[in-house]
Amino acid sequence: MKDGVFAQHESRDKMDKDFLRQIDDVKDFLSSKEKEKLDNDFLICECFCVNVGDIRLSCSDLGEVNLDHLQERFQLGRGCQSCIKDADSWIKKIF
Ligand code: FES
Repeated sequence: MKDGVFAQHESRDKMDKDFLRQIDDVKDFLSSKEKEKLDNDFLICECFCVNVGDIRLSCSDLGEVNLDHLQERFQLGRGCQSCIKDADSWIKKIF
């Protein structure tokens, strides 16, 4: 019987630790998601002075970044093209 009670406590202790670890994982996930979004002032295209705020405003109806639209509206990527080459690093941090 004593072993049964000990096993129950051990099991409950493990469940508590697992639960607390899950809470920490959620906190880390939420804070990392918030950190990943870029500020509106962050410059994306230096050649044509296009920042994150310009992109958010211009693509807000679409709810996602559309490079063709940005190229047409702001000339984004029609200079040195480094903003397009680096698109993977910023495109998911807009919306
Ligand atoms: S940084 Fe966008 S074209 Fe040069």
